[in-house]
Amino acid sequence: MISQDLNDRITRIGPDAPAGAVLRRYWQPAALAEELAQGDQVAVNLLGERLVLTRNDAKDLVLATRVATPDEPPAFYPDAKDIAIDPQGPVYPVENRKGLYFAYMGPGTPPDFPNFDCFRAPDSHVFAFKGLWECNWLQALEIGIDPAHASFLHRFLEDEDTSEGYGKQFRDKAAHTDMPMTQILREYPRPDIDVQETEFGLKITALRNLDNGLTHVRVTNQIFPEAICIPMSREMTITQWHVPIDDENCYWYTMFTSFQNPVNKALMREQRLKEHRLPDYAPLKNRANDYHYDPAEQASATYTGMGLDINVHDQWAVEGMGRIQDRTQEHLGRSDAAIIRYRRMLRAAITALESGEGDLPMLNDPLASGIVGPLSNDAITNSNDWQNASQQADIARRAACPWDATV
Ligand SMILES: [Fe+2]
Repeated sequence: MISQDLNDRITRIGPDAPAGAVLRRYWQPAALAEELAQGDQVAVNLLGERLVLTRNDAKDLVLATRVATPDEPPAFYPDAKDIAIDPQGPVYPVENRKGLYFAYMGPGTPPDFPNFDCFRAPDSHVFAFKGLWECNWLQALEIGIDPAHASFLHRFLEDEDTSEGYGKQFRDKAAHTDMPMTQILREYPRPDIDVQETEFGLKITALRNLDNGLTHVRVTNQIFPEAICIPMSREMTITQWHVPIDDENCYWYTMFTSFQNPVNKALMREQRLKEHRLPDYAPLKNRANDYHYDPAEQASATYTGMGLDINVHDQWAVEGMGRIQDRTQEHLGRSDAAIIRYRRMLRAAITALESGEGDLPMLNDPLASGIVGPLSNDAITNSNDWQNASQQADIARRAACPWDATV
């Protein structure tokens, strides 16, 4: 458990807040390209600021400051063309990467983008989507770097046909086996967790020791400050940012990246639009309708009784903590190793900015543009050689990839 003062330091993201200053040093997802396709402007609420994605006199896309109007609904702006811009307010640069608009809201020159797979792959192999969670960004990120939670929160009591798993998390077979991922997660619920600091953040490895000297190895990367990169299936990875709208709401933005076939974007979008409403990408299952909790389903099919979409399970878990998790009451355990390491990194970054001494990940040495990967996969390996074997499995996948995914 930590003090209230420290909890405020690591969660609050306004322009004058310590964690807000750290996030502003990095490119932040601001909107999907499909949102701008609906009109000339899109209202964007980002890092506690009320902004609008629009074009400046030079026709470049920028995030300008929006002027509030009294009849405006809180979450979005229904008639984008009528958005008024504050000519005195800050204007932030914007760049499009594979269907996602990123904005830089910090001082000085924006950093280079890392050379991650989601940015390197061709447009055809990347699909971007987003969803609203009504809670602080940090608890949304922390569930993603807890590799044990999937064995409980996303537990399926029976395995589905893995051939129907396209576009869904944990519905594929584990690499080189006929075991569905759902079976591995269910039958081996207490992984050993190895955490290593990297040039971009953390490499978090969950080890599930199977029988016969074999180990299931799953790599989750924490990309500083608020993203993760995880395996979704043998074919795809997920790179997901947990972006603050304000202190008490966030969007997850995901870039699904395929190492094999072009992404079936129409199917991926259709799957996700069944679970979200437009224009604010709010989940249809939410606190107001008890996340469609069904005790009969809980008895027979899933751990949560909240359906098969794992995003809903995560949403329930993080929103259930309250708008900002009260970390003065928490009890961290063995499986929170990565969360503890991450908070240490965030606190070090805050201190570095405040003191003017020390580097933030990817902003000085090494530069972001030189960073590739990250390696992120599931593999079943010899228990004695898991580190090397897991790495080799991803390198082999990259060698067979139709675009240049070499690391
Ligand atoms: Fe999850």
